[in-house]
Amino acid sequence: MRLAALPRFPLCQLPTPLQRAERLEAALGPGSPRIYLKRDDLTGLAFGGNKGRKLEYLVADALANGATTLITEGAAQSNHARMTAAAAVVAGLRCVLALDTRNGADLAGNLLLDRLFGADTRLVAGKGERRAAMAQIGDELRAAGEIPYLIPTGGSVPLGAAAYVAATLELARQLNDAGVVPRRLYVATGSQGTQSGLVVGQRALSQPYEVYGVAVEYPRDDLVASCVDLANGTADLLDLDARFDAGDVTIDDRFVGEAYGKPTPGGLEAIRLLARTEAVVLDPVYSGKAMAALIAHVRAGVFSPDDSVAFLHTGGGPSIFPFGETLLAG
Ligand SMILES: Cc1ncc(COP(=O)(O)O)c(C=O)c1O
Repeated sequence: MRLAALPRFPLCQLPTPLQRAERLEAALGPGSPRIYLKRDDLTGLAFGGNKGRKLEYLVADALANGATTLITEGAAQSNHARMTAAAAVVAGLRCVLALDTRNGADLAGNLLLDRLFGADTRLVAGKGERRAAMAQIGDELRAAGEIPYLIPTGGSVPLGAAAYVAATLELARQLNDAGVVPRRLYVATGSQGTQSGLVVGQRALSQPYEVYGVAVEYPRDDLVASCVDLANGTADLLDLDARFDAGDVTIDDRFVGEAYGKPTPGGLEAIRLLARTEAVVLDPVYSGKAMAALIAHVRAGVFSPDDSVAFLHTGGGPSIFPFGETLLAG
């Protein structure tokens, strides 16, 4: 595997902890499996999250290509945009963000942090307008003599996904040291870079668990197709002799609710439960919905008390702040 040969710009504090959530297990009752949290909310860069790992590879590539400015896109409360803005600061680059305001644009949480990190934030109305905005920003910067490096949504290209093959190596060591054999690894899945890297890592390292993606948007078929493409692209990048198809990808879209970015009752309950049992902060857009799936499955008796399950906490904490009262109601 070519993983170790890929240049990496250090941004994260690794390894992130793997913690057993015994108070959460107790709150879920005697039928609960052992639950392990892989704390990628603690990757260390600017409030942490899964994007830090991907950005280590993407920023290294940007620097190798002589880039002066990072450009990326996302929703106004994008964690990826916030971490890209922070990574640019650390790498001495400028940052321009194309952000859509379909779920509002309160100057709080991630949008506030983007501006605090000095990013140039360009707001567009809908997701569909982001791609054109990115291209236009690229042209504008090139005309001004800058060298832009475009990072697609979520950093979800094979080079970004490779970070979650490396994360699997880290997790596999921790599970092995702790003697833990989880049945599933739950993860919130959006642009698929994280899940595809985990799927490749699971196969390459013969891990015992099923990577269980919990969708945060529709339609599921598109998510599965892009996860398969990214997994194959990542395997190629790493010179791995592995092929993936839809049968290798588990994505559950029953916890999305109305749409991307819209909180669900289950997600809000999960946020409160983790806060009050483990003092762990989930978010309403991603990790809360993934934890809602795990909790629903425990309550439905999918696991026995002898089972172990793992949950990749992908971060997202800063996006709770615009939700205020909604989070506490219930
Ligand atoms: C907190 C959080 N969790 C999960 C994800 C999903 O990761 P991916 O886009 O790689 O599917 C994101 C993406 O923005 C995120 O911010």
